[in-house]
Amino acid sequence: IASPSSSNEERQGFSSRIGFILAAAGSAIGLGNIWGFPTQAAQNGGGAFLLIYLIMVFILAYPMLVAELTIGRLSQKNPIAALRNLSDNPTAKNFASLSGILGVCALSLILSFYAIVAGWLVSFMLEPIFSLLGMNAIADWLTGFSTSRNLVMMLVIMLLTIRVVQDGVSAGIERWSKRLMPALLILLVLLSVYILCQPGAMEGLELYLIPNFSQINADLMVSAMGQAFFSLSLGVTGMMVYGSYLAKKENLPATAAMVAGLDTFVAILAGLLIIPAMFVAQKNGVTIYAEDGSLLSSDTLVFTVLPAMFNTMGSVGPFIAIGFFTLLTIAAITSTISMLESPVNMACEQFNQPRKKMSWLTGGVITLISTIIVFNFGSLFGLVITITTVYAQPALAMVFGLLLMWVLRRDRLLKELQQGNPEIESSLFWKIWPWYVKFICPVMILVVFFN
Ligand code: PHE
Repeated sequence: IASPSSSNEERQGFSSRIGFILAAAGSAIGLGNIWGFPTQAAQNGGGAFLLIYLIMVFILAYPMLVAELTIGRLSQKNPIAALRNLSDNPTAKNFASLSGILGVCALSLILSFYAIVAGWLVSFMLEPIFSLLGMNAIADWLTGFSTSRNLVMMLVIMLLTIRVVQDGVSAGIERWSKRLMPALLILLVLLSVYILCQPGAMEGLELYLIPNFSQINADLMVSAMGQAFFSLSLGVTGMMVYGSYLAKKENLPATAAMVAGLDTFVAILAGLLIIPAMFVAQKNGVTIYAEDGSLLSSDTLVFTVLPAMFNTMGSVGPFIAIGFFTLLTIAAITSTISMLESPVNMACEQFNQPRKKMSWLTGGVITLISTIIVFNFGSLFGLVITITTVYAQPALAMVFGLLLMWVLRRDRLLKELQQGNPEIESSLFWKIWPWYVKFICPVMILVVFFN
């Protein structure tokens, strides 16, 4: 039994259920919800995408989320140790380690591109302030695309993330999640209400809520699946490590349902903000369609169309802009925190090192990778996103699910879930879920993949 040594502080978890839920929801709720989901929905038939997305979350992503959280909580160790712990067989253990290492690497790569994007959001949040102060050169630098801007703002995000993670789970991650998540919800509701009251908003609402079933095809299903995996942070050990900090007395399926529910709720709400906002922009004379009649790309919508719209809103415009980009920044930072936690926790426990040191070291390495991407933006940025989110996330989520269901003894799995829910054996969840993650989820992932 490993006793906590002086260099490896005693493993502290979340101090409360709500703390866990807010932190895990903070990981899940990010650019995927507030930017990715609404723009994908707008481009893919609005309500039709919403419907397929909801189905994907419910039948595919939620069962995988419970699986990933369970793997973490079972061992209460870092992802690699947690995955190894599923079996006594040396070959299975090695395979498990490999999948864990790949997961942590994929997560670190996700952080390295996500920090760049999050940096742009901070830039756009600060721009109206500098404009109001008449410091136009700085304002232009902030919103113009340049290597220096990308680098500096990425560093800002990485520093903030490291600062939170170095303080540990309850004093760092939980504390900040409890502050930032309510702020995010309030901002989102206020902004949606404001936008929905503007002329043009109803057109957006129609596109969003009335499904156009003719748009449902294989591509749309692949996009919705990818969106669901990305949004619930699956397959890259971020949720596994949060699961490892969850108290044994908590009911895992119910807690995971809260997290998935909050994540989906915020995505739906963000749709009520972004899609109507696009049509308000159009009403105000901003172009939202490309020449071929399709909507402009999602980054153009966020970084060109919406700022142009804020500019047409008169004196409230800058404040709406600040509110909007603050919302996106908060969503991004609660996600980057969860991305750094897993490699840091792994480094601390596998090498028996103190958290502070490992936070700066691991964060430093990821910052370096991010710097390489900044300097080779054209060739690396898109590539890293595709490798991690299109391939690694669904594939590794599937491997984690398979390891849990095929390798771990069924009685151990049941015992783990019974700790938070003594009646689980007779529940519908227990009758369906193991079988489901074992057979149905892998088949569905493969089918969608090969389409
Ligand atoms: N779920 C986050 C979002 O929607 C992104 C994320 C992916 C976070 C993987 C952690 C791990 O933006």
